[in-house]
Amino acid sequence: MNAGILGVGKYLPERIVTNVDLEKIMDTSDEWIRTRTGIEERRLAGDDIDTSDMAYHASVAAIEQSGVKPEEIDLILVATVTPDQSFPTVSCMLQERLGATKAAAMDISAACAGFMYGLATAQQFINNKAYKHILIVGVEKLSKITNWEDRNTAVLFGDGAGAVLMGPVSDGKGLLAFELGADGSGGKHLYKDMENGTLVMNGREVFKFAVRQMGDTCIRVLEKAGLDKTDVDYLIPHQANLRIMEAARQRLELPPEKMSHTIRKYGNNSAASIPIALAEELEAGKIKDNDVIVMVGFGGGLTWGGIALRWGV
Ligand code: ACO
Repeated sequence: MNAGILGVGKYLPERIVTNVDLEKIMDTSDEWIRTRTGIEERRLAGDDIDTSDMAYHASVAAIEQSGVKPEEIDLILVATVTPDQSFPTVSCMLQERLGATKAAAMDISAACAGFMYGLATAQQFINNKAYKHILIVGVEKLSKITNWEDRNTAVLFGDGAGAVLMGPVSDGKGLLAFELGADGSGGKHLYKDMENGTLVMNGREVFKFAVRQMGDTCIRVLEKAGLDKTDVDYLIPHQANLRIMEAARQRLELPPEKMSHTIRKYGNNSAASIPIALAEELEAGKIKDNDVIVMVGFGGGLTWGGIALRWGV
């Protein structure tokens, strides 16, 4: 049984905060942020919208597109490091709000690679026929844990959610291979400080790790799928920094138009960035039936993950 994507949805808060807006509250510049990261603006959720709200809106869109009814969902996986609270989980909150009466529910904590961990986990349940329909959500309200006094990190992040509904698809379609990994020794480079509750990052160390790991993961996942660089139609990398994404694109020798870059308008949405980008590319008609897509992410932990999939049902 092959596991594929039956529906995709996204949610972005309405409030746009531009680099120029940030210039007014911290010692930074539009020019610095643009050239070092590729970010021009980001969306920030207000106090009235928490992580579970964004997850809900993205999920409703994905479920509608899939044609699957909420009561037919067997499992809900939510990748997030910014849940409403530690428990009940965002996935349990969603289970109730969506009316997914039959679904089991758990959150996955693998930072920006969380959505990759979610897809690979869901694939196992579907392949072995334990479950048929699984909702996977990547969602973050990073503004909750952003240190607005730290210009090194505050300019990078945005809030948002993306969701996919996975289920059985025909032979040759769906997930072809995955690659997941972790290196806890690098945990010190990117973490949430429990004293003040904000994110701390050693940007240069994370940058070096990410450039190496994104490219390597792409190559390994293609090998596992029995594919070559030339088979790839579209690359959807975690939207952390345009320079990191470009390095992955160059490793795959893809032209610029074959890589997603939603980072310009949304910044880094952590676990939500890959499903948001997927939703945008589908809306723009850039992904077609039978296309080979590579998704790849990395994040705190340190963690990483890649997926090769053939689009279609
Ligand atoms: N505005 C202006 N200047 C700044 C800013 C800012 N917002 N931030 C840092 N600077 C300054 C620094 O203080 C430094 O000044 P100094 O040399 O006088 O000390 C200078 O700019 C250069 O800093 P670098 O760290 O060398 O800049 P770099 O080119 O490495 O870019 C960046 C920094 C963008 C953070 C980069 O290292 C990066 O993207 N790292 C990876 C980040 C990442 O991907 N994190 C993982 C995701 S986390 C998550 O997803 C939840």
